[in-house]
Order: sequence, then C-alpha cells, then structure tokens
Amino acid sequence: MKNTLWNQPELAADHFLYHRKGPWPQPSPTYPMEQAPEILNVPPEETLLWNQAIGSRYFKTLTFYPGGAAANAVAGSQLPIPSDAEFVRMMTNSVFVRSLRNTEGNTWVADFAPMRLIEDDTLPGTYARQVNAIFKRNGDQFSCSHIEVTVPAQMVLTVTPADPAWNLAKAYALQAASYIGLFVGHPALHFPMDSVNAVTKTAVPRNHPLFQLLFPHSTYALAVDNAVLETDDGILSSDPPGTWFDPLTATGLVIKRLFGAGYAGYDGHAGWYPKYNYMKPWMDDSVDYGHCLSLYFQPFLTFCTVVAREILKASPNDPYVERWANYLSAQLHGFPDGKAIFEGDTLARAMAVYLWDVTVAHAADHYSFYNDITSPQPGPAGTRLAAWKFLRLRVPPPTKKTDGADVKLVGDVCHPDDLYRAEMAQEMFFKSVTLWPNLVDTAYAFTSPTLLVAQKDFHDKLREVSRTVASVMPNFMPLEPADPKKYTPEEYSVTISASIQY
Ligand SMILES: [Fe+2]
Repeated sequence: MKNTLWNQPELAADHFLYHRKGPWPQPSPTYPMEQAPEILNVPPEETLLWNQAIGSRYFKTLTFYPGGAAANAVAGSQLPIPSDAEFVRMMTNSVFVRSLRNTEGNTWVADFAPMRLIEDDTLPGTYARQVNAIFKRNGDQFSCSHIEVTVPAQMVLTVTPADPAWNLAKAYALQAASYIGLFVGHPALHFPMDSVNAVTKTAVPRNHPLFQLLFPHSTYALAVDNAVLETDDGILSSDPPGTWFDPLTATGLVIKRLFGAGYAGYDGHAGWYPKYNYMKPWMDDSVDYGHCLSLYFQPFLTFCTVVAREILKASPNDPYVERWANYLSAQLHGFPDGKAIFEGDTLARAMAVYLWDVTVAHAADHYSFYNDITSPQPGPAGTRLAAWKFLRLRVPPPTKKTDGADVKLVGDVCHPDDLYRAEMAQEMFFKSVTLWPNLVDTAYAFTSPTLLVAQKDFHDKLREVSRTVASVMPNFMPLEPADPKKYTPEEYSVTISASIQY
C-alpha cells in the first residue's frame, strides 16, 4: 500500500498541533510514585479557553450564588438523616456502587478501606473514619444489614438498624462513600487520561486519524486538571478554612493520598483497590450503574475498530501509533507498548477506553453524584441539596452502640458553614455543566469517506444505547435533551459531555 501523508515517519514540525513542542506528562510533583503523571505546562491557548468557558463560571458562582448556597445550607441542616430506604438507594443505585462488591451468596459489601489514609489528619473538630456497609441482595432489591465502624486499636464496632448509633453510622458511611467516590474512583477517570491527551496533541500529526479521533475529546481537560491539582486555594486547598468553598475535612495534601489509592492501588486492601490498569476500566455488569457503562462501551469499540482498521490498512506498522503507544506505556500502568498496540484489537480498544472514559464514564459520575446523592426535593435555591454527602462531620464516630442516640437531623452532625461550603462546591465543581458540542454533537475532522460513515453510525448507535440505558436505569445521565432540536441551556448542561470539562 502506498504511504499516505499522515504516516510518513519524519513529518516536519508544522504537521503537529504544537509544532512538537506541546504538553507532556511529568511525574506528579506531590506524590510522584503514587499518582498518575501530570501535565504541568498547559498550552496558553488551552488555559485561555478554560478561563473563558469554565473559570468565568466559577467567578460568577462565587459572586452570585452565596445567597442561594446559604439558603440551601439552612434547608440542608433541617433535613433528617436519610431513612434506610434513602440510604440504600444512594449506596446501591448511583455512582457509589463503584465501591460495592458481591462477597459471597447474597452478601454485598461497600468497602471504604482507604479512609484510613485520612482519618488521623482531619481538620480540627472534624472527623472521618474507615467504615464498611454490608448489604443483602434479593433480585434487584438491596437492604443494609449493618455498618462496620473501625474504632481505635483496629477493633470493629458492628452497628445494626436497631442500635441508637445507626443514624451516626449511616452518616459516616455516606461520608466515606463520598470521599472514596470523589477522590479514589473519580481521579482515576481524570488524571491518567491527561497523558493520552498531551502525547496525542504533541506527537501525532494533525491529519492522522488517531489525532482526528481523539482531539475533539481532549478540550478543556488539561487546564481543568491542572486547576484541580495545582491551585493552592482551589477545591484541594492547603488551607480549607481560608476559602469560601472548600467543604472538605482535610487539607489538599492529605486528600491527595486518596488519589494514590486509585492509581498505585491501596496496600491496605489491594484486592479491592488494585493498581490502576488503563485497559481494564471498571464497568461491572452485575450492578445497574456498571451495566450502563458497559452498554455504552460497545458503540465506542465499534467506532474505534473502524478507525483502527483504516489506520492499519494504510499503514500496518504505523510509526505514529507505535511511538504513541511507546510513550504512553512508559507513563501509564497497563497501557500497551509499541509492539502490543498492533496485536489483535488492542489499538481499537486503547482508543475506545480513552473516548468512553472522558465522555460517558466521567460525566455520568458527576451527574449521579449531583442528582442521586441528595434528598428527593431540591433546595430553596432551586438546586440539589448537598447535605447528604456529609463532607464534614462534627460528631466523632460511634465507639459503642449507644453513641449518637440524639442524632436525628443533618444539623446534629454538620455545621451550617460546612453545609454552605458544600453547596458552593457542588455548584462550582460537582454538578455537570456540559458545553457545546456534547458527545453526540461532536464532529470529527475526518477526510476519509469510510470514517465519515463510521461517525454517523457511532451517533446512531449511541442513541440506540441511550434508550436501552434509560430502561435499565432511568436516573442515568441522558445522552441528549429530550427534544434535540429545542431545549434550554439547563437541559443541554446535563447531557453527556465530549470531554472532561468539570
Ligand atoms: Fe470530574
């Protein structure tokens, strides 16, 4: 086969987005051995775009939302501790099922072992604790039989629904699920993908199908992640009380230990929290949320299979694919190297994992954390209440079954200022705010007729899967507005985004 332009091995620098001087992964400056590599030098044009589209939204929220946040905080403090039904719903029918596993028979365990990494270093007057929640499953129905709270000296206190400490134990379980979700599970969707993003932009020519496929899904992410990781007064503040919106129970440096558990694995419970593997993302078919993620993976794989075939047909040992894989396998656990990438369907799969991760898997996490981990009624600001995330607890965990007997309301365990901060953080960082174009509105700069057909087919299949997903889990994030021709900005902002942008 005659070589086409994009696979000439020594293309000049002007064939590359950043003239081959673009962003590149470096070891994490905070925990280089435990965290995914980080992009420390974000191209100025990407920072500019981030400021305009996302940074400006943060400033607007800081300026105009405090009144609404305060009203929501007061309403949140009056909420009861979630009922058992609400507790089970949140723990088993949301993003929180990422921590839920079948251990034996009909027993399912939500294991939050990495909480041990932060429990001794919380802010003064706030508490966190390692807890596990144990469920029984009967068909699709779950019930919670007990919660195990680790008490000092490695002893475990078993709290059942009949015990006075039950409400307090539920608050600790929801807190642990929030922290493990936000800081062990979610970062593994964000940060490893930055290496793929940067290496593609820097080392793959602009007219290569690999670049054309990944580029539309690589907007905003480098600047978003850099802001999360490197802003000293951001969500991971070195001095949380010094911000208006950091609702967390420890400093950023302490919280980042949890990121390590999601990437290097957690030694304290490696079976449950193994080392990250790029090619094996979580999509457990035995729970609805995982099943929906798995259903969505298929159209990505089909689409990427066509693109991979098109690349390899013209260029069987494509030099840019080989280099791309070699650079990335040196950076990311589990990424295939320049030899393995050409075996079987590895290239298609590696591309599909990236596309699926930065769109469906990432966005659905935000959508669920905002919409599912909350009370049924919105707050007075018209937005969801953040109270049931229990990001700061002001009452120590129970050490005996009779502790916490007077805990009835959220306000019995949380301070109003903690709840106010949680409302601000929720509006700024937790909720999905999808920018145009979303996943299914994304067009690729393909000039190959075969790939243009594949793009249309991909969009059709995504719509088909979205209908199946809606029947499996009606509360899963929508692919597009109910009427794709006529919708409000609010409706669009909760559809699956094309890239990591929140
Ligand atoms: Fe995110």
